[in-house]
Amino acid sequence: MAIRNIREYGDEVLKKTCKEVKEMTPRTKELIEDMLETMYDANGVGLAAPQVGILKRIVVIDTTGEDPYILINPRIVESSGEQTGQEGCLSVPGKFGIVTRPNYVKAVALDVNMKPIEVEGTELLARAICHELDHLDGHLYVEKAEGPLQDMTYEDEEEE
Ligand code: NI
Repeated sequence: MAIRNIREYGDEVLKKTCKEVKEMTPRTKELIEDMLETMYDANGVGLAAPQVGILKRIVVIDTTGEDPYILINPRIVESSGEQTGQEGCLSVPGKFGIVTRPNYVKAVALDVNMKPIEVEGTELLARAICHELDHLDGHLYVEKAEGPLQDMTYEDEEEE
């Protein structure tokens, strides 16, 4: 496993649409392991493949620090409610913005064995799912932030 370089805001790769994963290969498995290591190393709660420069529809999310979700070709199939709160991104270091997201989200995806899975979550998990899936279509939260981005203080340094 290896920690990969996280691409930052302004990098063209973050604006591209990612391609579906058709089959699991040793190379893709290695990418996923590296994404997990990179996310944990950066104290993030989520990371999408384009953030490490790979245009594949893969995200990793872990809002608890204990049990990561690995979502391949994820798709939101249900959402409801609304939450407005702080959101950050490992590709926009040191900043956060106020973003409104659904408060509940259900997504379908494939796991590392390319078997269908379903993930549902509220609050932070719902926010993280929306945020990470946006990355796969070349979107960053800064496009949705209400008002200017703010500088992160040390204690709320937990990024998605
Ligand atoms: Ni992000």
